[in-house]
Amino acid sequence: MRHLVSTMDLSDVDLTTILNEVHNFISVIEGKERPAQSLQNRHILLAFFEPSTRTRLSFQLSAHRLGASTALFQPEGSSVEKGESFGNTFATINAMHFDAMVMRHAMDGAVSLAASLNGVPVISAGEGKINHPTQGLLDASTLLERFGELRGLKICLVGDIEHSRVARSQIDVCSRLGATFALCAPKNFLPDESDEVFASMPRFETIEDALVWADVMSMLRIQRERISSPDFPDLNDYTKKFALTMNRLNRHNNVSVIHPGPANVGVEIEQTVIDSENSLIKRQVTHGVAVRMAVLNSILT
Ligand code: CP
Repeated sequence: MRHLVSTMDLSDVDLTTILNEVHNFISVIEGKERPAQSLQNRHILLAFFEPSTRTRLSFQLSAHRLGASTALFQPEGSSVEKGESFGNTFATINAMHFDAMVMRHAMDGAVSLAASLNGVPVISAGEGKINHPTQGLLDASTLLERFGELRGLKICLVGDIEHSRVARSQIDVCSRLGATFALCAPKNFLPDESDEVFASMPRFETIEDALVWADVMSMLRIQRERISSPDFPDLNDYTKKFALTMNRLNRHNNVSVIHPGPANVGVEIEQTVIDSENSLIKRQVTHGVAVRMAVLNSILT
C-alpha cells in the first residue's frame, strides 16, 4: 500500500493488519505500553483544505506518538490566498520532500489527483462526499472492540447518506468484515437506487422501524456545506422523523450508537444519547488515534 486514498486501496491483508495493530496502539494511548518510535526523523505534512477537529488532531497526535514531526498547511494564510493554483501548490510541497502527506479536501477527486501529482505517499483525511478511509477503519475497529466480530452485525445508516463521505468507507470496511447495512433517511438524503454500493440494502422510512432491525445505529450529520438550498429539509420535520432521541433509544436497550462527529446536537441526535451507555461515540475518537497510528506505521515503515 503506497497511498491510502480510498478503503479500496486496502487489500484484505492490509485491512486485517491495520485492525490487529489498533489493539496494540490503544494500549499505547492508554499508557499501558511504551510507544514504538518507529517514525523518528520522518516529517509528515497535514494539508487540510477544509475544517477538521478529530481527523487533523488525531493524525497529528498519531504522528507525534510514533516519533514523527508534522507541519500543517491550510489555505488560509497561504499563497492560495494570492491565487496560487492547486497544481503549483503541490509542486511546491513536493519540492520540500516530506515523507508523507495527509490531505483533506472538499472536492471529489482532489486527493487522488494529489496522489498522482505527488512523489510521496498521500493519505486521505476525507475527500468530498466520496471517501473517508480512516473513518471507515475506526468505525470498524470500535465495533470490533464492542462486538468481538462484525459477521452478521446489522448496521443502519441514518440521515444524510447521499452527501456523506463516511457512508461509503464505513460500508466497504464493515461489509468486508461481514456486517450488513440498511438505510433510513428522507428521500433527498437517500442515494440513487441504481448506485450499486447501496443496492439491495433495506430502506426504512421511519427511525422506529430502523431501531427494530438494527444492532448499530450509524448516525450521520446533515452535510449542510454540500447541499443546495432547495434540497435542504425543514429541520423541525427532519428531527421529528429521524432524530435519535433517548425516548426512542430507551425502547431498544441492546442497540449501540455511532456517529463520526461533529454532531448537530438536537437535529439528528440528542446529547443524552451521545452520553448514554449505548453510545460508542467517544470511543470512536480514541480509536481514531490508534487507527491513524496503524495507518502511518503501515505506510511509512
Ligand atoms: N469525523 C470527522 O472527520 O470529524 P472532523 O471533521 O472533526 O475531522
